[in-house]
Amino acid sequence: MPKRPVEDATGAVVWVCCTGSIFWFGLEKIRETAGKSIRPSILSLHFTSNMIINTICVCGAGTMGSGIAQVSATAGFNTILYELNQAVLEKAKMSIEKNLQTLAEKNKITLEEKEKIFQRVHFTTDIKECIAEVIIEAVIENPETKIDLLNQLAAINSNKVIFATNTSSLSVTEIGNKILNPQQAIGMHFFNPAPLMKLVEIVKAEKTSDLVVQDVTGLARQLGKIPVICKDSPGFIVNRVARPYYIESLRLIEEAETNFETIDALLESAGFKMGPFKLMDLIGNDINYSVSCSIYEQLNNPERLRPSFIQKEKVENKELGKKTGKGYYQY
Ligand SMILES: NC(=O)c1ccc[n+]([C@@H]2O[C@H](COP(=O)([O-])OP(=O)(O)OC[C@H]3O[C@@H](n4cnc5c(N)ncnc54)[C@H](O)[C@@H]3O)[C@@H](O)[C@H]2O)c1
Repeated sequence: MPKRPVEDATGAVVWVCCTGSIFWFGLEKIRETAGKSIRPSILSLHFTSNMIINTICVCGAGTMGSGIAQVSATAGFNTILYELNQAVLEKAKMSIEKNLQTLAEKNKITLEEKEKIFQRVHFTTDIKECIAEVIIEAVIENPETKIDLLNQLAAINSNKVIFATNTSSLSVTEIGNKILNPQQAIGMHFFNPAPLMKLVEIVKAEKTSDLVVQDVTGLARQLGKIPVICKDSPGFIVNRVARPYYIESLRLIEEAETNFETIDALLESAGFKMGPFKLMDLIGNDINYSVSCSIYEQLNNPERLRPSFIQKEKVENKELGKKTGKGYYQY
């Protein structure tokens, strides 16, 4: 597997570190001398992982894919962002540039770092260019689409490639069992917005190898995230716990008890960062509806989690939230 490219002499030392020939004490010394010229996450890179990761390919450049690609490039990885829809890809490119520019203006990164990070992302609509050590798929929440894509990628990549799915609710085991090399498939569930949210749920499927779990847990740390290992159960942890937040709020609207603005205002005043309707608009009403349906079906249709016809209407009317300019609110 190719070595991670090093950008300067300090990077070369990091590479030596990753072979394991320098002890932690040495690493700390390098950190001291390297000062701020290299990110701690890059320095700790090869101590948390069994494999050398040079390139990460993110598939789907929508709400999540775009953010995950930014995270990956910021952590120093060569990043491929693959998307079917050219217009979505262009939008992702502009969004990543804008986010990095904002960070530079806030002095969180230098302009030079901004340029370097941006240059690390290769934007493409050509699947043949999706060659990487780790593939993180963030396409629509549909098992057939994900399985089909991963199998296309398996055909052109090495059999060591890790397939991480960002699914919010689908069974990682079912996805993994239908692709080549199921031991390489794992859930890597980022949260929205990916550059800001620290948590990543790592979902071990039935056949995921322990080595892949270790690698992906290490990778999540290298990306500056906090990995939490979860069972492959419907909605994992966060989406299972969060489901009633949306469904019960929608019930109040169905029953005409109040309106969505009031629910959001009340819950925000009670301390929630975002009311459920604002949050659904941020997530995307199509994705949130798919996740609601998937969790409901996998749990054998409990009445308390029955998806709302309002969600269905939003999807049919293409009122998907922020990404289409209109959801419950206008953007
Ligand atoms: N939106 C959220 O808050 C959120 C949070 C965590 C996880 N997720 C999960 O992440 C995944 C993506 O969600 P999203 O909100 O980014 O969706 P999105 O609709 O914003 O983006 C999905 C993108 O995938 C593209 N796509 C579809 N099929 C493709 C293919 N075969 N190859 C390449 N691109 C393809 C679409 O054109 C679209 O741009 C879903 O599995 C979702 O459950 C979403």
